[in-house]
Amino acid sequence: MSENIIELKGLTKRYGYGDTESFALKDFDLTIKRGEFIMIMGPSGCGKTTLLDIIGLLDRATYGDYYLNGENVASISARRQARLRAKKIGFIFQNFNLIEDLPVIENVALPLVYTGHTKTSRLKHASSVLKRFNLEEKEYYLPYQLSGGQQQRVSIARAIVGSPEIILADEPTGNLDSRASFAVMEELKSIHDEGNTIIMVTHNPALTVYATRVIHMLDGQIDTDVKTVADANLPQPISVKIKKHKPEINLPGDEGKHKPKKRKKSRRKH
Ligand SMILES: Nc1ncnc2c1ncn2[C@@H]1O[C@H](COP(=O)(O)OP(=O)(O)OP(=O)(O)O)[C@@H](O)[C@H]1O
Ligand SMILES: [Mg+2]
Repeated sequence: MSENIIELKGLTKRYGYGDTESFALKDFDLTIKRGEFIMIMGPSGCGKTTLLDIIGLLDRATYGDYYLNGENVASISARRQARLRAKKIGFIFQNFNLIEDLPVIENVALPLVYTGHTKTSRLKHASSVLKRFNLEEKEYYLPYQLSGGQQQRVSIARAIVGSPEIILADEPTGNLDSRASFAVMEELKSIHDEGNTIIMVTHNPALTVYATRVIHMLDGQIDTDVKTVADANLPQPISVKIKKHKPEINLPGDEGKHKPKKRKKSRRKH
């Protein structure tokens, strides 16, 4: 059965004071279960990116509580936020945000810098993820040598390389034609089918067929919130459960380098 991975309570994001005061989010409540694929829609300026940035620990709310796996992370230190972000959250942006002078494989390996693995093993792991996206021949290309769709698939590879529990995507198909959008959505679908939780902002209503829940925002609040898949039918988080038995990400070629922690009893529910 799924569990709450994110709970937002009374989140408010205020900009400015007095006459210039405005609210990007207003007393925003939202509970997200593990395995949901949420699409967030709404007019420009309604607070979608602000919401993703706060969920992704890139920004903080002015007031309110944010529980991530049951822990209130609203006011933890920036250092802890960065550590949690690296471990639990993968980002996909509209403009790909790849580092232009790094080859594809090094872009994908970047989130693994904080895992303590050697560069060789990080690159090996990045390579295996790129293979999944049929991009193994492009490993040593620079981002500008790829099409937009390929660049976005590289950025999805980068988002999932560290096995995060949550994938945040801000208009990931916004700069792509319909064919490339389809390829990107199919990749996100397969990542979701593996039990990952995805929160995606989009302006394209046709993409909501991939979602298990569609939230429309208006003026920093939820306008409508519709679940299209019952909680009981959400994909089970297979990858997360396997990961619990490992001290870190287990990279190919790293076998034996890390002492495994004492094995906990399997918490798999049937
Ligand atoms: N740094 C800032 N200073 C002041 N106001 C800001 C700042 N960042 C965002 N805002 C305001 O917060 C509101 C929400 O912005 P946000 O970027 O979250 O909108 P959005 O829904 O993502 O819009 P879009 O669909 O255009 O990307 C907007 O009115 C915006 O002007
Ligand atoms: Mg936005």
